[in-house]
Amino acid sequence: MIKSLRGMNDILSDDYERFTYFIQTASNVATRYGFHFIQTPLLEETALFKRSVGDSSDIVSKEMYQFTDKGENDVCLRPEGTAGVVRAFIQKKLDKAGGIHRFFYHGAMFRYERPQKGRLRQFHQFGVESFGVESVYEDASMIMMVHDILVACGIGYKLQLNSLGCKTCMPPYRQELIHFVKNLGDKVCKDCLRRLETNPIRVLDCKNTTCQQFYTNAPKLINNLCDDCEDDFAKLKSILEDNNIEYEIDTNLVRGLDYYSKTAFEFISDKIGSQSAIAGGGRYDKLVEFLDGKATPAVGFAMGIERLLELIKMPHNTHNGYYIGAMDEEAIPLVVKLSQGKRKTKKVTIDYKARNLQKHLKAADKVNARFCVVIGSNELKNSTLWIKDLKNKTEDTIKVKDF
Ligand code: HAM
Repeated sequence: MIKSLRGMNDILSDDYERFTYFIQTASNVATRYGFHFIQTPLLEETALFKRSVGDSSDIVSKEMYQFTDKGENDVCLRPEGTAGVVRAFIQKKLDKAGGIHRFFYHGAMFRYERPQKGRLRQFHQFGVESFGVESVYEDASMIMMVHDILVACGIGYKLQLNSLGCKTCMPPYRQELIHFVKNLGDKVCKDCLRRLETNPIRVLDCKNTTCQQFYTNAPKLINNLCDDCEDDFAKLKSILEDNNIEYEIDTNLVRGLDYYSKTAFEFISDKIGSQSAIAGGGRYDKLVEFLDGKATPAVGFAMGIERLLELIKMPHNTHNGYYIGAMDEEAIPLVVKLSQGKRKTKKVTIDYKARNLQKHLKAADKVNARFCVVIGSNELKNSTLWIKDLKNKTEDTIKVKDF
C-alpha cells in the first residue's frame, strides 16, 4: 500500500472543518484590519530564500525541498510565505508606487524537518505582510490581529516579545556577544561555535540546555538598544498595555529567520507539547531593499494552522440544509429532481438508495440537516412529500409543488 510521505498529512472530516473555519475566521479578521488576499507560487527560485531567510538559518541550510527542474533552474518548495510576498511586491513595482500595501495569505509550506507532534514537513500557515508603515503602531496592530484571531477561535496563548535592534545597535552588540561566547571556549556546543561564524545571535536560540545555562549571563541586546530602537520598543509595550494585551519579554527570542530587525514576537500555547509556537513574526525593514526593491519598511506574522487545529473551538453546530431520501425505488427520480431544484440555494444531502424512514432520519441527523424530506410510493401517488423540521421537531405532509 502506498502511504503519504513522512511529515505530510491528509486533512479531512472534523480536522478539515476546523481548518476551513480557521482560515475563514482569520481571513475575516485580516480583512477587517484592511488586508487583501495574495497568492504566490509554491515553487520559487532557491536564491530567493537563501537571500531572505538567510544561508545560515536551519531552514535554508538543512530543511529546503530543493531540486533542479527540467529547465536546469535551481528551485525549491517555499519553506515560508514572507519571501514570496516580498518578491511579488517588488515584481509588481508596488515598492516604486509607494503608499501602504497590506496582504494576507494562507497555504502549504515545506520544511524537511524531523517530524514529530506539531512538526510537519508539509504544513499550512496563515500569514500577513504589511508594507510601507514605519510606525511601531503597525507592529502593535499585527500583535492585536493575532490576538483577535486566537480569541475568535477560543484559543489561549502567551505572547513573548523582544527587540532585535537595527543596523546601528546590532553590530556592536554582536561583537560583545561574540566576545562573551569566545570566552566560554569549548564549553558551548559545536553548533554554537559554528553559529559564531555564520550568525552569532542565533546562539541565544540554542536548544542545548548546557549552552542555555551559560547564556543566561550573556549580554542582552535589549540593554544595548540605540535610542530609536529603545523608544520604539517602549512605545510598543505601552500600546499593548493600553489595549490589554499581556506579554512577557524574552531576551533570547531571536526567531529562526534572518530578515528581522526591531520587533520580534512569538505566540506560545502550553497545551500542544514541545512544538509550542503557534504564531511568530516581526519587523523586516531591510528585506525589500535586500531583494533589490526600493527601501520599504515592513512587518508581518504567520500562524501554524496544524498546531492550532486541536485548540480551535468551533461554534455549536447549527442545523443546516436539507436531507432528501426515498422509501421506494420508484421515488428516487423525484428525489433527484427535487434535490437539483433546492441545491440552487440550499445545501442538500441525498441518498440514492430506497430505505425506511428511521434510516433516513438517522442519516439526516448525522449530516446535521435542518429538514429531512422523505418520499415513498404513497407520497408519489398523491404528489406529496413528508418533511420533518429536525430543529423544531415538527413534521408535515405537503404538496410537491409547495416544496
Ligand atoms: P516561523 O516562525 O518560521 O515564521 O513560522 C510561523 C509558524 O509556522 C510557527 O509559529 C509555527 O506555528 C508554524 N510552523 C513552522 N514550522 C512548522 C512545522 N515544521 N510544522 C508545523 N508548523 C510549523 C515564518 O514563517 C515567518 N515567515 C513569519 C513572518 C511573516 N514574519 C514576518 N512575516
